Amino acid sequence: MNVGIIGSGGREHAICYMLNKSKKVSEIFCFPGNAGTGMIAQNISLNPDNFHELEKYCLEKKIKMLVVGPEKPLVNGIVNHFKDKSIRVFGPDKISSKLEGSKIFTKKICKKKNIPTSKFKICENLNETIDFLENSNFPLVIKADGLASGKGVYICKDFNEAKIASEEIFNGKFGVAEQILIEEFLDGEEMSYFIVTDGKNYKFFGSAQDHKRVDEGDKGKNTGGMGCYSPSRLLNDDLEFKIKTKIIEPTLSAINEFGGNYKGFLYVGLMIKNGEPFLIEFNVRMGDPECQTILPTLNTDLIDIFTSCCDGTLKQLEINFSKSKSICVVLCSKGYPEKFEKNIEIKNLDQLKLLENENIFHAGTLKTKTGIVSNGGRVLNFVSTSDDFLKSRIRVINLIKKLNWKNGYYRRDIGHKVIKI
Ligand code: AMP
Ligand code: GLY
Repeated sequence: MNVGIIGSGGREHAICYMLNKSKKVSEIFCFPGNAGTGMIAQNISLNPDNFHELEKYCLEKKIKMLVVGPEKPLVNGIVNHFKDKSIRVFGPDKISSKLEGSKIFTKKICKKKNIPTSKFKICENLNETIDFLENSNFPLVIKADGLASGKGVYICKDFNEAKIASEEIFNGKFGVAEQILIEEFLDGEEMSYFIVTDGKNYKFFGSAQDHKRVDEGDKGKNTGGMGCYSPSRLLNDDLEFKIKTKIIEPTLSAINEFGGNYKGFLYVGLMIKNGEPFLIEFNVRMGDPECQTILPTLNTDLIDIFTSCCDGTLKQLEINFSKSKSICVVLCSKGYPEKFEKNIEIKNLDQLKLLENENIFHAGTLKTKTGIVSNGGRVLNFVSTSDDFLKSRIRVINLIKKLNWKNGYYRRDIGHKVIKI
């Protein structure tokens, strides 16, 4: 079968790598992909938000399945566009994607289904927001409702910060804002939990802990993710039972009641406090870099998972993961997440000899006539799996040192909570 993958990050390169290993997959096309996917698949530079153009191309190249990496095409309704056509799309439909596309939609589901989450208030305009904030205790969390590329969340320690955040949101920093979400601040430890579902049944798809801050010790600016370890140290049978029964199952049932059809990955962003899970957010896709961290531990053919979700036969499929400890360290451009240079050559990449259980997944890279250059903030993902987190991290860091990319920056402490040295 010919398969198309939408997206250009490390997540999509990891998906591409796994599909390329499958005997059931013939050609892979990436829309638009990166230098890494270009080595094992065909990169196609058409705009994947133009569903008509995409459809035409898929028909021409006999692409029978599209796998959607990022949230935007899902929220924009790519699954609905391809409904009843000969091309299957792995991903949730437009209604279901509101779980990520509208934080207020998700909060309303939490309220309806009694799902544990932070207390919240929805305000309709700036005056109402300010009135509410004047009578609130801090810290508080203020959120823009819609997609904001991970930037629409403000943790506010006092009234002034909250006022500025609310003004920015209502002034349209993240698009037209008709409402705003104010949340109680939850303390605890974060964990990412993943499932895959065909709309009727769901299965576990890994757990992970992302390190979002740019500096070691989890300090500094927020980023898209500087590295990750999997499995999460917090997961146990009791917690997992609570996550499934109190959060995932009521949510999937609410989506069905709304008439949604959820086929795809669901990323459950949680805060764990005293052994209790609280929902922070849903994403309707795999995480990045969680995907790069988890997929190398998957023993089941990934195309079988995608196919069974599209066909509604997930119940019959067994999904197996190895028991390995996986670490992913992101090599980013110096200066990220603020100002950084692009188009810096990455020499030696093809000289690195990878052992079994080692992977390099590309993110912001581009192949030019002279070689591979950086093309974004997060550039390469180095992943290693072994029976021990420390061993995995040492291997990854040795590889990064061997590459010796002068414009690169990375955190040496990924997984510090599970690695005591
Ligand atoms: P979100 O985009 O909703 O995941 O928020 C981004 C990050 O903000 C999360 O990963 C948390 O670190 C933090 N965050 C969001 N909501 C809360 C909350 N209610 N309490 C504490 N931290 C939060
Ligand atoms: N790693 C965070 C995310 O994918 O949103």
